[in-house]
Amino acid sequence: MQYKGITIGVLREIMPGEKRVAVIPETARQFVENGATVLVESGAGEGAYFHDQDYLTAGARIAPNADAVYSNANVFLKVKEPIFNEALGKHEAELFPRESALISFPHPANVLNHDMVKMLSDRNITSFTLDSIPRISRAQKMDALTSMSTVAGYKAVLFASDQLARFIPMMPTAFGVIKPAQFLVIGTGVAGLQSVATARRLGAKVKTLDIRPDANEQAASLGAEVIPFDIPGELAVGKGGYARRLPEEWYAKEREVLTPHVQNSDVIILTALIPGQVAPILVDKPMVEKMKKGSVIVDIAVDQCGNCQLSVAAENQLYNGVLISGITNIPATLPVDSTWMFAQNIMHFVQYLAVDGKINTDSSDDIIKETLVTIDGKIVHRGTLQSMEQTKTSN
Ligand code: NAI
Repeated sequence: MQYKGITIGVLREIMPGEKRVAVIPETARQFVENGATVLVESGAGEGAYFHDQDYLTAGARIAPNADAVYSNANVFLKVKEPIFNEALGKHEAELFPRESALISFPHPANVLNHDMVKMLSDRNITSFTLDSIPRISRAQKMDALTSMSTVAGYKAVLFASDQLARFIPMMPTAFGVIKPAQFLVIGTGVAGLQSVATARRLGAKVKTLDIRPDANEQAASLGAEVIPFDIPGELAVGKGGYARRLPEEWYAKEREVLTPHVQNSDVIILTALIPGQVAPILVDKPMVEKMKKGSVIVDIAVDQCGNCQLSVAAENQLYNGVLISGITNIPATLPVDSTWMFAQNIMHFVQYLAVDGKINTDSSDDIIKETLVTIDGKIVHRGTLQSMEQTKTSN
């Protein structure tokens, strides 16, 4: 039996506003049928409308509280990074039993999470981060970042549309036609393409800009007008087809190209990202100052410091009549579908890692190498180590 001896712990997420859960009855059943015990904290699924009884029917057990999960499980599946648990008066990272395993989405490279990562390593926890699953075909089913970006791209457009003081589609009236709203999507990877598709469905006109030719082709196929930006391919695209960080003068050129389009947009969705790095500034303060009052910017790259110079994480601010949203944790606002996708991703990842009741940590495997964060009392995740080094030098 693949999971014999494994007790999967499923905790209620304690981050404010988080409604997702890492295991749903459907995936609990799959774990149980293959030999695992699944222990779910009572009420863990309520935010996504999964009830204790549904888990029981699927063969899971219900623990009356978080303590009972911490003391009896050896593999913990979680949505958000461990944070301080006010009710228990301890950090979640200190509550996992020593030598247990944690599989989650902890953003370990983010400077705010460095202390938490150190706690995990001090406690000899074997931890993995789903945000580093490589985008290769054999890992597609485990790719939680793609799932969550799909939600973020979609919901960002709905949020912006709701805040906009105008119609989105063209609207004929007895006095003439109201023109459709003009959207600009910068960065058309997973999230950006979803934004394009959603804005088009609402009837918006959409312009896009990306530095990868593939991304531009896909945006055009969804009906976007791609803004030409003449950048040498070798400068823009690196290993694995991912975008590269550009020399600063190219960002200045890009902002110049973008300026008239920014000025004419009603809504701007920002998603430009270089994997594992701080996001580039593509809309600066003078560009925002030229925008029409009543326009909206949603900067979903804000977890990586954002693409707009003025964005502040988790805040909506009005600047010169322009609403700039740094909304974070967008997937939690669509808990049913984002939970379903996340639970599938994590189940496929556990399926990949578990061999004869043990979690495989062989880092000659690409997927394991990229996602392993702490093991044997050491931090091994490349992006986290780089970010810790940079923080040391800048202090
Ligand atoms: P992705 O890697 O698929 O797409 C990023 C795109 O940005 C790529 O197509 C890349 O070529 C493009 N790009 C890079 N540099 C550029 C430049 N100078 N100009 C124009 N385009 C450029 O990433 P994905 O999965 O779509 O995620 C996008 C962002 O959304 C990330 O910052 C991610 O963390 C964030 N996100 C935010 C969530 C939230 O709740 N706020 C949830 C999920 C994702």
